[in-house]
Amino acid sequence: MLPAVKPMNEITKVTDVAPNASPVKAAPKLPDTQTVTAVKHWTDKLFSFRMTRPATMRFRSGEFVMIGLMGDVNPKTGKPKPLLRAYSIASPSWDEELEFYSIKVQDGPLTSRLQHIQVGDEIILRPKPVGTLVHDALIPGKRIWFFATGTGFAPFASLLRDPQTFEDYDEIIITHTCRTAGELTYGAELIENLKQDEMMIELLGEENLNKIRYYPTTTREESPKMGRITDLMRSGEAFTDLGVDPINPDSDRAMVCGNLAFNLEIKDLLEGYGLEEGANSKPAQYVVEKAFLD
Ligand code: A2P
Repeated sequence: MLPAVKPMNEITKVTDVAPNASPVKAAPKLPDTQTVTAVKHWTDKLFSFRMTRPATMRFRSGEFVMIGLMGDVNPKTGKPKPLLRAYSIASPSWDEELEFYSIKVQDGPLTSRLQHIQVGDEIILRPKPVGTLVHDALIPGKRIWFFATGTGFAPFASLLRDPQTFEDYDEIIITHTCRTAGELTYGAELIENLKQDEMMIELLGEENLNKIRYYPTTTREESPKMGRITDLMRSGEAFTDLGVDPINPDSDRAMVCGNLAFNLEIKDLLEGYGLEEGANSKPAQYVVEKAFLD
């Protein structure tokens, strides 16, 4: 039985000291609503938030749910219609709260409003988690690759805090390609905190945390590693940098979450290495999911 604990991370800390935070409301007024408990803005285009979790809601780390806000009144019914989008759950399945990582699109129907949420606000959550980025969709292997671009890091924020990831694999390589260095911060801090947080060390094990290899790259701003991960794999540079053999179907498994073009390119690469796509109903060697975009 895992402890019901709330990890101390940057988001929690920021909220704890927020001077004008409104008190968390105990009983949501609308059906299927949860209460925001923390918000952190990472860049002008990215933010993350935490909210209460329904006591009965179960999910597998890596899955997504529909969340959103009340939208405009439907002219046919005269009632407001919920405006919902698919969001990967960024928190692990043992966490007592739910965490999400989101883009802000200034004219996006949902995120133009969602980016202004504050502690105490209500968010609609349809508690029916689904998705393919789950351990059940992969057959056993030695090394797992998590490939992300942009907010596609979210499901891996969940899986990197799940003890099963460390039980199932000897090595965990997380690659994250973003346009700018600032866009890497959410993931970089999360991994850094994982390795330093006493509760996470106790839960996951220090040796297990040493299995994580983090490979961040940027494409439009100077950083220690420049370039798209796809190009770095094709040239072999990524494997040389990491000191590992190229991907092979006997030992390597992969989960992919990013923009559509990226997903298609990685799929091609992985199939080229001989990996087969898996699903919940038919586990295999890699799985793909599209990152949420408004
Ligand atoms: P690039 O700047 O070269 O387009 P976005 O913000 O558009 O979702 O992109 C997130 C990151 O994913 C960017 O660094 C972008 O690189 C990269 N990217 C976009 N398309 C691909 C692709 N087909 N293969 C690899 N990386 C990609």
